[in-house]
Amino acid sequence: MYRTKNCGELRISDAGQNVTLAGWVQRSRKMGGMTFVDVRDRYGITQVVFDHDTNAALNDAANKLGREFVIQVKGKVAERTSKNPNLPTGDIEIIADGLTVLNRSEIPPFTIEEETDGGDDIRMKYRYLDLRRPNVRRNLELRHRFTMEVRRYLDGKGFLEIETPMLVGSTPEGARDFVVPSRMNHGQFYALPQSPQTLKQLLMVSGMDRYFQIVKCFRDEDLRADRQPEFTQIDCEMSFVEQNDIIELFEGMAKHLFKELRGVELTEPFPRMPWADAMKYYGSDKPDTRFDMKFVELMDILKGHGFSVFDNAAYIGGICAKGAASYTRKQLDQLTEFVKRPQIGAKGMVYARVEPDGSVKSSVDKFYSQEVLQLMAKAMDAEPGDLILILSGDDAMKTRKQLCELRLEMGNRLGLRDKNKFSCLWVVDFPMFEWSDEEQRLMAMHHPFTHPKDEDIPMLDTDPAAVRADAYDMVVNGVEVGGGSIRIHDSELQAKMFEILGFTPEKAQEQFGFLMNAFKYGAPPHGGLAYGLDRWVSLFAGLDSIRDCIAFPKNNSGRDVMLDAPAPLDQKQLDELSLEIVEKSSK
Ligand code: AMO
Repeated sequence: MYRTKNCGELRISDAGQNVTLAGWVQRSRKMGGMTFVDVRDRYGITQVVFDHDTNAALNDAANKLGREFVIQVKGKVAERTSKNPNLPTGDIEIIADGLTVLNRSEIPPFTIEEETDGGDDIRMKYRYLDLRRPNVRRNLELRHRFTMEVRRYLDGKGFLEIETPMLVGSTPEGARDFVVPSRMNHGQFYALPQSPQTLKQLLMVSGMDRYFQIVKCFRDEDLRADRQPEFTQIDCEMSFVEQNDIIELFEGMAKHLFKELRGVELTEPFPRMPWADAMKYYGSDKPDTRFDMKFVELMDILKGHGFSVFDNAAYIGGICAKGAASYTRKQLDQLTEFVKRPQIGAKGMVYARVEPDGSVKSSVDKFYSQEVLQLMAKAMDAEPGDLILILSGDDAMKTRKQLCELRLEMGNRLGLRDKNKFSCLWVVDFPMFEWSDEEQRLMAMHHPFTHPKDEDIPMLDTDPAAVRADAYDMVVNGVEVGGGSIRIHDSELQAKMFEILGFTPEKAQEQFGFLMNAFKYGAPPHGGLAYGLDRWVSLFAGLDSIRDCIAFPKNNSGRDVMLDAPAPLDQKQLDELSLEIVEKSSK
């Protein structure tokens, strides 16, 4: 037997027992005739003592151990004289009477401890060592428990876990596809699924009624902290349901997960906010509602007073930062620089302080009377001690997005975005379409299978841009953790949707014929949702990036630096696939 106990389980009640442990050398310290070795495995760390006086040879062997050597230790559990309250095993140590080196290790490229000296690149290159660090390992443990709870919950609700293929056809909507050449079908390509959307709808046509799958999805899009090119969805679909049925069931699942995994009891129903309100008050379809600071539109109050920036604006909006009137000139300048950064793109920022006597002092005092400034402060519910920050611009949507960034920045600065506080909501009534400047046409905002709101269907012919959809996202702390919709189950309505999206009937048939044909054979009303597993786990673990809860993630350029992928194919493989690499012109 390699071991009788693991490195995390021994307690004071085990004192006197003879045990065998196996694990990695976390570190060793020589103190006089004693050598203390911390042995680590997935379960914890146990201190082992090698005493020169009782066994000189063994002590010598212990002194030769290097970091990350794999060892087996035999010995007796004893109470420690100086206990370590920070370790669950901190009351005991093992007095060693045997040591076997099972494997040696080179000196690791970075310190394998909670706090490491390894930068991002080196940790990713040696990710298998990074995963030995307890904090990284804990993220994977949480991920495991998360998926176990999801399966338990959904199984309890009658869902079937069904796998769908990874080699599918390319679909033109949404992000770009990752494609895979087919050797047996010359010149043809599979695509990796961006999501199992159409397949889960087909499963509803098959009568599976309630489907789920914890599934890898692939999207060739620009990466951010909350985006990976391959990520995992908890993908679900249900038949004979309306929007409310889906929202209630998955809100129940979210509450179950909060309770089981974070010990947080959420008893109230999650608020449901129309998309239009989310944009109006927060400038975002995923508002962080941990704090208030809603936008107040100030067009009526601030226009027409001779301040040309505001007079020419299509939107003027402000936020009120409670208690921030003490902000110094320097801090305000920093905020102005923040909004002027190219990623945000505002031209400038106007501010106003509400003084202790209630008067308002602004950076544009020469254009505004105290009376107007008071009207503004009143509209914003601003009180003495508050700071008002105002942005304006000639494009209302863009300006709202800039104000959204400013609001989040102020939330950070004022400590209002506590990672241990959770605020959940549904954003509902998304627009059916959004205009794409790049494509010069309307695109489906969610996807082309989303059902329009019944009352808006007549507008499909007259004003499609105003049509709202039966689509919903769940947002937690400003993160979109999931989204879904009621689907179209009528092939005529689906054909009309494709027409609005600019598909000719032939193109629609070519791309989605399989779905439209299936709908001719009795498709039930259905709908569903997909949660982003990586985003949920990183939210629960308080991580800044979803990378940290993925065992082997890609870096920001979409590379796996450990596997060195992607990489060129050798000529033989290219020939088999009849592929030729054309050098990219440097133009
Ligand atoms: P959607 O595209 O909104 O919907 O995706 C669902 C959820 O998946 C997560 N997600 C991502 N996570 C990490 N990296 C990414 N690149 C990434 N992209 C998306 C998000 C998101 O809310 N088929 C529909 C769902 C449906 O209608 O049922 C879909 O894929 O948390």
